[in-house]
Amino acid sequence: APVVVAIDGPSGSGKSTVSRAVAARLGLSFLDTGAMYRAMTWWMLANEVDVDDPEAVAIACAKPVIVSGTDADGPTITVDGQDVSAPIRGPEVTAKVSAVAAVPQVRTRLVELQRGCAGLAERGIVAEGRDMGTVVFPDATAKIFLTASEAARAERRAAELRAKGVDEATIAAMAADLVRRDAADSSRATAPLAKAADAVLVDTSELTLQQVIDTIAELVEQ
Ligand code: CDP
Repeated sequence: APVVVAIDGPSGSGKSTVSRAVAARLGLSFLDTGAMYRAMTWWMLANEVDVDDPEAVAIACAKPVIVSGTDADGPTITVDGQDVSAPIRGPEVTAKVSAVAAVPQVRTRLVELQRGCAGLAERGIVAEGRDMGTVVFPDATAKIFLTASEAARAERRAAELRAKGVDEATIAAMAADLVRRDAADSSRATAPLAKAADAVLVDTSELTLQQVIDTIAELVEQ
């Protein structure tokens, strides 16, 4: 069976960077499922869907064509053919993505796309998100749950934003949003952020990026 590495965890745990690096190192494809929820949210906002109305979201979510390019060296994401990799990281989408991701019909649709991506991956895939080990890939080859202290997560996210030239007021707002979003993601009824019983817990607070990558690559190769 093709290799599936399921990596879950909260925002700022280092998931995206680590997952991509592990995929590149092991020669696997890479799937950022958060980007798919962000792309769905971006499309809803662009099309004036009331994202605070779960029924409106449930109906609208069938429409956008979301395509994820799974090359670990340059992942891409398009909605109806448009490259949305930049706008999906903005504060507007970030503020609303948890509400959209809590709608069961959104999840059903995106989970199907996610499994399709894994099925097409030649050598296997590293998939990162909130429910990879619990819902999307219950039979994954390896499951990792990445955590870090709230302080470490906020600091990492702030450093990423600072490096992109984002102003301090926006950084502070996004830090507050991170706490709110993790609470929302962990408490929702459908596929909450959770560690699968058989996932290995890796606390990255005190580890360098390289140490985390090495740890996960070893777990996969076991
Ligand atoms: O960038 P960050 O780590 O903060 O978040 P992300 O991985 O881009 O995911 C954005 C949001 O999508 C999360 O806060 C969740 O609400 C949702 N999400 C989800 O519900 N299930 C997933 N498998 C991935 C993301």
